[in-house]
Amino acid sequence: MASSKHPAQLLKTVSSRVLASTGAPTTGHSGQMSHRVVHTTRPRVSYFTKVTGRPYPQSWSSMRHLSLAAQTRQQDLATRQQPVVATSVLHSQMVNDAIRVEFADGSTSDLSHLWLRDNCQCEKCYSKSALGRISLLKNLDLDSHPVHVQELENGSITVEWNDGHLSEFSGEWLHQRAFNQTARQKRRNQYALKKVRWDGAFRPKEFDYCNMLNDDQHLLDWHLAMERDGFTLIRNSPDKDVAGPELIEHIAVVKQSHYGPHSPVVVRADANNIAWTNSELGLHNDLAQYEYMAGIIFIHCKHQHVGSGGESLVSDGLYAAEKLRRQHPEAFKLLTTTDNYYWDKGVANLPWEQEEFFKIARMPVIKLDNNKEVIQVAVNNAVRDSYLDLPAHKVKQFYEAMKIYNDVLYENAITFKMAEGDMIVLDNIRCLHGRLGYEAHSTRHLESSYLDWDEARCRRRRLQEKLGVV
Ligand SMILES: [Fe+2]
Ligand SMILES: [Zn+2]
Repeated sequence: MASSKHPAQLLKTVSSRVLASTGAPTTGHSGQMSHRVVHTTRPRVSYFTKVTGRPYPQSWSSMRHLSLAAQTRQQDLATRQQPVVATSVLHSQMVNDAIRVEFADGSTSDLSHLWLRDNCQCEKCYSKSALGRISLLKNLDLDSHPVHVQELENGSITVEWNDGHLSEFSGEWLHQRAFNQTARQKRRNQYALKKVRWDGAFRPKEFDYCNMLNDDQHLLDWHLAMERDGFTLIRNSPDKDVAGPELIEHIAVVKQSHYGPHSPVVVRADANNIAWTNSELGLHNDLAQYEYMAGIIFIHCKHQHVGSGGESLVSDGLYAAEKLRRQHPEAFKLLTTTDNYYWDKGVANLPWEQEEFFKIARMPVIKLDNNKEVIQVAVNNAVRDSYLDLPAHKVKQFYEAMKIYNDVLYENAITFKMAEGDMIVLDNIRCLHGRLGYEAHSTRHLESSYLDWDEARCRRRRLQEKLGVV
């Protein structure tokens, strides 16, 4: 691993970085260190024991083969009281094609040489302003390996590569990206929070419209509930058509469709969508005719129908899908492997709608990710296309599977009647909504608008950072 030749100038650079980080004047030790290239470790015994309460690992400390100069320098560094934080690298060691580091909190990680080289943080390789890699994959040498690793007093490590390039990684940066389960799980949570499935006994968590606008903690709680449950209820929304879009603009940006930034769900003449009639609507996602279906739907009740009718239904498509997977595996398999077409063709009803539209999307009823987890469901009987790209003999079993899933959705649905000022918010790629029919001359007026998950999760992460709850 270690080369017998080492550019003295480079070591000098390493050393002066060390000293710069301590705020101490440069000493002459660095030049002497170049006589011997070793994988170095510092005498951290007291720090390690202080932080972890455990004795220094003997097997690792016995790996040290320090030159006299290096020992002198280490003693020099050890006399300076440097703050050790949980993420400081206390120890490093070469193992096969990785550097094994131990952090002050006792956690360890093997850091692949190639991964480290790819993620060099120097200004030639990485832009601190764009937070993006400048280096190109085509220039990455798959045989990159370190010739020297140096632990610094500030808890960082420097790596000198076989091509002479020098990298420095802070302990905190490495600790966050460690290849152990704890760090990997933390990143998964930052990416997306764990979903919790619910059945017909579920009641959505309630929030207040004004507090959503004025209280970051209230807004963050809403985000957490949305990612977990996919269904929340916001009370006291103002009596205006754009209450939904205004709230969405506070969170991030409105996701527009060819129906514009918001849609009045009222009985319209020559309705260009079944939703703008008084008919019963089966449980459905909105905008299943979009390949990139809107992630979150806000449905605001401005005026409710008086008398019977107009009740809302909501069901957790994730819960139903998992039940289907357990109880009807053949139906589940069919719905995850067979594509439907969903389509929408028409002309504008309202001035802010697109003049003409003709959408076609193609996707399975239940979409899985690489881990076979359900990531999206697509159910919409109104926009489900009459084109079916299947051999004729497979049609009936596909219908049977769709009906079984639909039945499970209804068996576990919640039925309720929205009050004026209520706004239900649904994970539109997970939860399905529907409504009972009502009189054609009703003054019932709902408004729907959309937000995408990318934007919602973006705001949630920013809020977590702002409130210090990462
Ligand atoms: Fe809808
Ligand atoms: Zn670099």
